[in-house]
Amino acid sequence: MLDKINPTQTQAWASLTSHYEKMKAVQMKDLFAADPGRFEKFSQHFENILIDYSKNIIDDETRQLLLKLTEELGLKAAIDAMFSGQAINETENRAVLHTALRNQSNQPVYCDGEDVMPEVNSVLDQVEKFSEAIISGSWQGYTSKPIKHLVNIGIGGSDLGPVMVTEALKHYQKPHLEVHFVSNVDGTHMSETLKKCDPETTLFMIASKTFTTQETMTNAHSARAWFLEHAADEAHIKKHFVAISTNREDVEKFGIDSDNMFRFWDWVGGRYSLWSSIGLSIACAIGFDHYKALLAGAHAMDNHFKSAPFEDNIPVILALIGIWYNNFFGAESEAILPYDQYMHRFPAYFQQGNMESNGKYVDRAGRPINYQSGPIIWGEPGTNGQHAFYQLIHQGTKLIPCDFLAPAKSHNPLGDHHTKLLSNFFAQTEALMNGKTEQEVIGELKAAGKSDEEIASLTPFKVFTGNRPTNSILFEQLTPRTLGALIAMYEHKIFVQGVIWNIFSFDQWGVELGKQLAKKILPELEGDEDVSSHDGSTNGLINAYKEMRG
Ligand code: F6P
Repeated sequence: MLDKINPTQTQAWASLTSHYEKMKAVQMKDLFAADPGRFEKFSQHFENILIDYSKNIIDDETRQLLLKLTEELGLKAAIDAMFSGQAINETENRAVLHTALRNQSNQPVYCDGEDVMPEVNSVLDQVEKFSEAIISGSWQGYTSKPIKHLVNIGIGGSDLGPVMVTEALKHYQKPHLEVHFVSNVDGTHMSETLKKCDPETTLFMIASKTFTTQETMTNAHSARAWFLEHAADEAHIKKHFVAISTNREDVEKFGIDSDNMFRFWDWVGGRYSLWSSIGLSIACAIGFDHYKALLAGAHAMDNHFKSAPFEDNIPVILALIGIWYNNFFGAESEAILPYDQYMHRFPAYFQQGNMESNGKYVDRAGRPINYQSGPIIWGEPGTNGQHAFYQLIHQGTKLIPCDFLAPAKSHNPLGDHHTKLLSNFFAQTEALMNGKTEQEVIGELKAAGKSDEEIASLTPFKVFTGNRPTNSILFEQLTPRTLGALIAMYEHKIFVQGVIWNIFSFDQWGVELGKQLAKKILPELEGDEDVSSHDGSTNGLINAYKEMRG
């Protein structure tokens, strides 16, 4: 059980509130000028990853006060509770043990008094054998051809993790396989994917923890119908459909052979499930060894998170910095900006990871909270984002703390592309911090030969106030191990924030209402008669839709 303390009632929160009054006017560039050791003091290494958090509006006292908050709110005990399999997901009465899935130390992990590791390892073996059979071509379709197309059908956590990782690790992708992901119930997603596939060489992976999700089951049934149109015989299904789920009964009802079912457990949250058999498409795409290296990287970060003192603990530090801006500076969002095209789905992945975890207004005692919880997460890769939304980050009225991520070495060393990319990475965080003063603008305009009148009218638009905070996360190269560590780092950041905000981070009741209403509306869309069972707008829209569709 986690403590149920309102963070705003702590001594540390009160101290942070008055400390904020002092810090809100502080300029980061003055902090750097006053302390030549600032970079070393506010940066941290983990394996070949460097996390520089010195470009934040923080000083020693900020860090101390934020660390005090973790003490008053029992963070250490909460971390132990998660890793030791306590049912910290209280509203679902479940443990939270995605860390056991990557527990390569093989030390026992107990859930309800039972060591989960033997089962975890046996499913990993199954994933290994299956992925090797797909990659080697020994797994054959109904006409004895090897599999060429893998189609993962899932949504949310049963889609975004595998999509993000297979994209991020495309460099390692087996060239003879094509991996597709279908998530949206919009028939376009399935139809366009099937156009690229051949039923004789296509294998569908139905990935759904519950095996009841409307989108996934609809897509799975359409895939099955498409397959049977060609293969004719239901006996062939077992060579072309596998399931990844916790729900054996419904998998069997669908007609999937139980030998072709990959299990996982209700102590794995959907958005934390890429480490489970939900990662099957990843293992097939990049090979089991690389998948294992991904897990190993995450495990190494787990060990760091579990054992490093909080002042050196990367997920803890990142979480506390986020809280500083979210709760004291009033920042509403955070941007994740990878300077790596392979990581183009990384922000979207943590949009779910963070917003579904910490988008809560009720505390752990069931009362509405009187402070801000999870931020809005968004982002796109650099440099594309620079030409789209960075204007607002630099000169808008909102404070947007940003994480910049980049590899020092590219997998595709093409001419001087990578140095150019990295020059932008460094330039952006420097510009966001230092801005450009009025004097600098006037000097530039003078040098460009502008008249005094032009200088006076243009200057206000060209000034950058700066002092906009960033974390820079620089790593040697985007390898499976490094990616695993980075994902685990953000997962634990989210966990720490949830503990401090006194909310439950591992349920997601907020997605239910829309699902329930869609179920109610679906039969109403069938007939031609007008509906009147809703509010005026919903009735009006449904009736207009019926008219338009003809
Ligand atoms: O709608 C939210 C959600 O429950 C996510 O948490 C989950 O990742 C997704 O739906 C898919 O669920 P399932 O794996 O059970 O199909």
